[in-house]
Amino acid sequence: MWEISENPMRRLLLSLETTCDETAAAIIDSDRCVLASAVASQQQVHEPFQGVVPELAARTHLERIVPIVDQVLRQASVDPEMEIVAVAVATEPGLPGCLLVGLAAAKALCVAWNKPLINVNHVHAHIYACQFGRADNIFPCLGFVISGGHTNLYHCETADDWRYLGGTIDDAAGEAFDKVAAMLGLPYPGGPQLSKLANEGNEMALSLPRPMLADRSTLNLSFSGLKTAVRYHLVGPGKQDFSRLSLSHKQRADVAASVQRAVIDCIVGKAELALAKTGLQRLCIGGGVAANRRLRHELSSLAERRRVELILAPPELCTDNAVMGAIAWERIHRGDYAAMDIDIQPGLLRNR
Ligand code: KG4
Ligand code: ZN
Repeated sequence: MWEISENPMRRLLLSLETTCDETAAAIIDSDRCVLASAVASQQQVHEPFQGVVPELAARTHLERIVPIVDQVLRQASVDPEMEIVAVAVATEPGLPGCLLVGLAAAKALCVAWNKPLINVNHVHAHIYACQFGRADNIFPCLGFVISGGHTNLYHCETADDWRYLGGTIDDAAGEAFDKVAAMLGLPYPGGPQLSKLANEGNEMALSLPRPMLADRSTLNLSFSGLKTAVRYHLVGPGKQDFSRLSLSHKQRADVAASVQRAVIDCIVGKAELALAKTGLQRLCIGGGVAANRRLRHELSSLAERRRVELILAPPELCTDNAVMGAIAWERIHRGDYAAMDIDIQPGLLRNR
């Protein structure tokens, strides 16, 4: 039904991302050349609450989505009707209100410009970020998405053939970083701050649990117990008030370093187990926590030890962005578009 024009104009994808607390848009060509990319962070909106407030996030996307699309179109001097070949949007998983804003905007643009729509799985897109800057295909690979909302392992046979192998049964790794950072009074979002503070601490200072790490029968992980263990260490059982904590800088750094070490041990341990179970020779890592320098270093050691290829998403494409929506090109090449009545899918579907 959709014909891609053979004119000498550029063939461009407009990609939108509104799954959580970043409003993002990007223009990418079929060679994965990024012509424009913009991310409007909602950090200031959610900072007073030390976490994402879903309704505020959705309303903020609503304010920002049109200006940010306008921004990338101008930045790349795009003639949408002539040069855009499809509009991609992340439709799963994510916060329902946030996903609805992105999908409604994408559908409206498709109708206005008479272009096809492509639904993108945000978690898959995080792994596809590893494809940037590489001429060779990253598939097949073991994909590990480590973010604020997800900590999932996949056998990725091709860009469209994913098998869920295991993941967190409660909190994501980024959530553990962010919540412990909040306990230590670090500004939101705490992951990057916690990792900075960890550089000054002793990672052996606290004895923290590594839930499920020793269980070789499963590729599942768990991080909520780690949060609780830190809370008990700081204020004791049953108490929630961290405002009167009087810790020295060194003591806070020790907590940060010990937590970072525990999270990294669990991630590296399960990645190693998954490599052993699947026999895959390539490990691709994406998601916000994959920006963590210590984690990147430990994963490099793992890859060397097991003699597998490690591909880390470029640091600037680890946290949420629309560039990674370029995974949609894999479907454009086949003419595999979404129906215009497609809905959002907020939950993580483990069968894909
Ligand atoms: O991928 P992302 O932007 O959003 C989700 O899809 O969840 O990930 C955000 C998460 C937050 O929890 C943030 O604290 C964490 O990634 N993060 C980090 C670092 N940079 C971002 N965690 C640890 N170390 C970092 N350097
Ligand atoms: Zn994400």
